Amino acid sequence: MTPGQPVAGAGAGRIAPPPFLAEYAALAEPRIGAFLDARASDAARLPVDLRMAFSALRDYVLRGGKRLRGALVVLGCEAAGGERAWALDPSVGMELLHAYLLVHDDFMDRDDVRRGGPTVHSALQRATGSAHLGASLAVLLGSLCEAWALELVLGAPVPAERTAAAGRLLARALQDVTVGQMQDLAAPFGGDLSPSEVLAVQRMKTGGYSFELPLRLGGLLAGASEALLDALERFARPLGLAFQIADDLLGTFGSPEVTGKPNASDLREGKRTLLVARALEAADPRDAALLRAGLGKRDLGEAEAAALRDVLLRSGAVQSCREDAERLRGEAVRALHGSPFPARVAQALREIAEYTVQRAA
Ligand code: IPE
Ligand code: IPE
Ligand code: MG
Ligand code: MG
Repeated sequence: MTPGQPVAGAGAGRIAPPPFLAEYAALAEPRIGAFLDARASDAARLPVDLRMAFSALRDYVLRGGKRLRGALVVLGCEAAGGERAWALDPSVGMELLHAYLLVHDDFMDRDDVRRGGPTVHSALQRATGSAHLGASLAVLLGSLCEAWALELVLGAPVPAERTAAAGRLLARALQDVTVGQMQDLAAPFGGDLSPSEVLAVQRMKTGGYSFELPLRLGGLLAGASEALLDALERFARPLGLAFQIADDLLGTFGSPEVTGKPNASDLREGKRTLLVARALEAADPRDAALLRAGLGKRDLGEAEAAALRDVLLRSGAVQSCREDAERLRGEAVRALHGSPFPARVAQALREIAEYTVQRAA
């Protein structure tokens, strides 16, 4: 399988993951499974039966996902000359932190499908027959994943001052992503955001925890110098933005069979993506009015969603977002030129940058 090429038979548009992501997934997934099984068997001794809750979480965490954040922890550690073994538990922690954020995000974005199956709140709403109980259990499972992430980071087999620095980093990143999500949720109820304001929100809600946090965390575990941490950040920061722009394009134009996620949810929720900010700036008044009328309409039908997609295309917003993502990817890759990272690590990061923009899910 060649990275960047469509995977034969996997549906139009699906892109093969770069070798390092595949290698990391093979290493990490058995560890994630074993960790979740151990916690589920602890829970099995409790007075109240929580089996359906733990199995909904296990299914969700293990049935898909690119394992990007975990892989970046390992690469951050290796970029600084650290041993892979130092980063493995914290990398599983980052995948669980991501699971926590996704479980809450799906509930807040009212999405029933992710990774090609039911989201945790919707699976538990069905399993318990209670919308409130299902959602409440999902919120608490998310919180458990957050606690486990902290445990796994603090348990890394490195000197205590490094884990303390990693813990401080994690606390700051959690604050940023939480406030970023609050901004993302509240934005549709406020005034328009300019493209640069949208990017500031996207850095907080996605780029920070998805790229800057795992790479820096890996670097800290290896005792990286400030200069090396800065070099990681110069790569991570533009790429985090490119990733969210690609996610927004897929979130409206991707095929649900390929992405495993719905493709009208951002429109129905009225999300203030870069796509929308650029279209509102560039569309003619009639199209801008059409877009405003449809955005956030909870009962937006398929035909109306298609009409909004046409507005996004006609306005040039889709094209300009693709160009933004490509420009930011280029910026990230340029930061690797002359970087102090081992060549193998720089190559893996370059391939991840490519995949981030081209990916189909
Ligand atoms: C989706 O992240 C949520 C965002 C931060 C945009 P991913 O696209 O990395 O999700 P998985 O882990 O591959 O499912
Ligand atoms: C998810 O952002 C960000 C976090 C999970 C913190 P989105 O809501 O835009 O991502 P998707 O499209 O649901 O994956
Ligand atoms: Mg979402
Ligand atoms: Mg969201």
